Amino acid sequence: MQRLDKILSEAGVASRKTLRDMIRAGRVTVNGTAAARPEEKCDPAADVILVDGRPIRPPGPVVVMLHKPAGYVTSTDDPRDPTVLELLPEEYRRLGLFPVGRLDKETEGLLLLTNDGPLAHRLTAPRRGVEKTYEAAHTGTAGEADVAAFAAGLTLRDGTVCRPAVLEPLGPGRSRVSVCEGRYHQVRRMLAARGLPVTYLLRTAEGGLTLAGLPRGQCRLLTEAERRLLEAEGRGYG
Ligand code: URA
Repeated sequence: MQRLDKILSEAGVASRKTLRDMIRAGRVTVNGTAAARPEEKCDPAADVILVDGRPIRPPGPVVVMLHKPAGYVTSTDDPRDPTVLELLPEEYRRLGLFPVGRLDKETEGLLLLTNDGPLAHRLTAPRRGVEKTYEAAHTGTAGEADVAAFAAGLTLRDGTVCRPAVLEPLGPGRSRVSVCEGRYHQVRRMLAARGLPVTYLLRTAEGGLTLAGLPRGQCRLLTEAERRLLEAEGRGYG
């Protein structure tokens, strides 16, 4: 946490003295509420700070977590379908964010967006094997033989051999799946290979981060603690 006037001066908005006047005049908002004092404490990575209704560019790269709804494509631009970028508030859209990896159009859940190219590369590089967890609804019920087949490394219908993965049956027609790779339609194809076609897919976690508490269609900046967790995750598999 840092003083608001320090954050604003480091972002190049104005001098500390001018900033005090701007704050007193109600020109600065933090998470939608007018800031009362220059010494107010804020988290530059997590709080949305606006000056005259416009975002200050946070110092350093930004990572946003989005709870993606179905029906949006994981792309920055698409001629036909709405993109995940369209779900971001205007102040985030100006930051040059792009998706880290992808979720299918019909898949929901945790999607990271960043303007930090090297971080995105580290998190998606196959050899780093960042873990992603999904909850699936599917036809049929997974059993012990399916759990063992996932653990051994499944062979998909097209002959692709997957890395060992974790399948946890959650009851009739529901399973949790954790994978360390990101092939096209991977989880859908893995479950289909076991005769368990997916009807709904939600990504609940990635690289130690979880979706908990973030409503569908909403996004937020990662906290500093989450950023550190993600950096460690990206480094850990070098
Ligand atoms: N696996 C899938 O099949 N779809 C996704 O969107 C993500 C993982």
